[in-house]
Amino acid sequence: MKWIALLLPILLCACSDKTNPPRTIAGADADAGLEVMQRVGCGACHVIPGVDWPQGVSGPSLKGFADSPMIAGRFPNRPAVLVDFITDAPSMAPDTGMPVMPLTQDEARNVAAYLYTLHE
Ligand code: HEC
Repeated sequence: MKWIALLLPILLCACSDKTNPPRTIAGADADAGLEVMQRVGCGACHVIPGVDWPQGVSGPSLKGFADSPMIAGRFPNRPAVLVDFITDAPSMAPDTGMPVMPLTQDEARNVAAYLYTLHE
């Protein structure tokens, strides 16, 4: 039964890799994403590390969002899902408080890249 002891850590590692994979967006520019967030006013509703003002609280704090397994507690935190959510959350969750945001696809990808720098 020794092999179980050897195998267990490997299995556990494989699991945690799946629940929290590295989240990256090819070709996106996180710094540009931060500028977009400041321009369109995500901070009106969210505390966002890197955005000093405003720091609204009607939405959840985005601190540590890169390590969160879920978006808004109901969607898997995957790059493509996040890009959709930050542009048009109401089409995914009609009852959400997160509004449609006026972002191009590229802007949304940059914003998502910035959000994926926000580790705890
Ligand atoms: C009018 C207020 C408002 C604005 C402006 C706003 N949000 Fe939100 N946001 C919310 C609310 C409320 C939620 C919670 C939604 C839910 O739980 O369904 C949310 C949820 C989120 C989430 C999921 C957070 C989590 O903990 O899972 C992300 C990511 C997010 N918003 C990003 C953004 C970005 C990026 C912008 C700017 C482009 C933005 N929000 C602008 C209100 C806002």
